[in-house]
Amino acid sequence: MAIYEINGGTPLSGSVTISGAKNAAVAILPAALLIPGRCRIENVPDISDVRILLDIMEGMGAKVEKPEPGVVILDCSIITQPMPDPALVKKLRASYYLMGALLGRYGRSHVSLPGGCSFASRPIDQHIKGFKALGAKVTEGEDFVSMEPGENGLHGDRVSLDVVSVGATVNIMLAAALLPGKTVIENAAKEPHIVDLANFLNTMGANISGAGTDTVKIWGVESLQGSTYAIIPDQIEAGTYIAAVAAAGGDVLVKNVIPKHMDCITSKLAEMGAEITDYDDAIRIRSTGKLHATTVKTRPYPGFPTDMQAQICVCMALANGTSRLTESVYETRFFGYCTELESMGAHITIDGKTATVVGMEGLHGVTVRARDLRAGAALVIAGLAASGTTRVENIHYVERGYERLIEKLTALGAKIRRVEE
Ligand code: EPZ
Repeated sequence: MAIYEINGGTPLSGSVTISGAKNAAVAILPAALLIPGRCRIENVPDISDVRILLDIMEGMGAKVEKPEPGVVILDCSIITQPMPDPALVKKLRASYYLMGALLGRYGRSHVSLPGGCSFASRPIDQHIKGFKALGAKVTEGEDFVSMEPGENGLHGDRVSLDVVSVGATVNIMLAAALLPGKTVIENAAKEPHIVDLANFLNTMGANISGAGTDTVKIWGVESLQGSTYAIIPDQIEAGTYIAAVAAAGGDVLVKNVIPKHMDCITSKLAEMGAEITDYDDAIRIRSTGKLHATTVKTRPYPGFPTDMQAQICVCMALANGTSRLTESVYETRFFGYCTELESMGAHITIDGKTATVVGMEGLHGVTVRARDLRAGAALVIAGLAASGTTRVENIHYVERGYERLIEKLTALGAKIRRVEE
């Protein structure tokens, strides 16, 4: 088993370059299934979620080339096995995007239910609602979802989501891009990766507008053609490094970001006392590590991202005063890391969807265990800020979503190493 061993207490300095966005990549790669041609996709992060997804697509018959770091050439002209490998699908939550992509390409699909981070129940009823609105006959099995054209065939239509769902918004866009007629998604998610997917599909000849607002319109087209596209930088990876500097202290230039995407995160950390400077495609953060308490409520974009809940909690645990952190996207998300932070000296009380965090002088290193991707990232931040040595177990969770983490942190002066035990 591999672990991270972190000797904390060293402020971070230098610069770090952010990789392509995981949650954009896992939506854009399946979108290539709609395109019977070569797609050159750049700024693809080399993380395990992406590697698994490419393995699934290759197993279906897609041609996958990686001519240079960060570049994937996908050719899905010939799909010989339209049913994705269930064993691989179970490893990756975003596998469910194959449902929409296969329905859009072939008018039918049979995909097993995905796995992935299980910090909360992760229903897909809104995805199913969307597919049915587009005319699909949906069969939900014990561990699979099967779809075929309903009696009126597949067609564009109006879908009003009962809850703002990134996944459902993505899946309906994938299913609708090639369907005859117009599809309108109301109460759509507005995350940067939704816009990125729409831009990718439009580059390939789709006709999508309104992505980034709560109403996305898709006019189905006859076919799509392969082209070239570069994925946006990862808002959450960037936020994670910014939170690490806020907690551990230091002076770091975070490069290859879209500052607008970071506003909800940087404004909160500035409120806590970090010094943030925005440039065209970079953000500089300076922090003494001494932060003020604050209140955060996670919201769908452009609110404070739920995927930054664990990371900001570490900053709160080190802040002067008492902070309150409320999760409003999932029913909960605290249990993946709060107990671990308490073992490092944090003082956190959880009451339903709200955690009250009493800032402490400092944290101390112990052995902790990651339970999901962002919880694991938060434990790394805690280890960087803590005194002594922190050992983080279950780091496979972290390596799902953070490219070259050890290399990037070491370049910032962090004393962290990956140890096989
Ligand atoms: C995406 O998950 C991200 N994953 C998550 O990031 C992120 O936390 C989440 O969006 C919110 O931003 C990927 O993009 C691969 P949702 P997703 O559908 O699509 C409820 C990470 O760390 N809901 O927006 O699954 C759901 O239970 C991961 O990178 C339904 O009720 O999230 C939740 O309470 C973790 N029915 C809320 O909506 C549905 O059919 C938001 O979920 C779908 C969702």
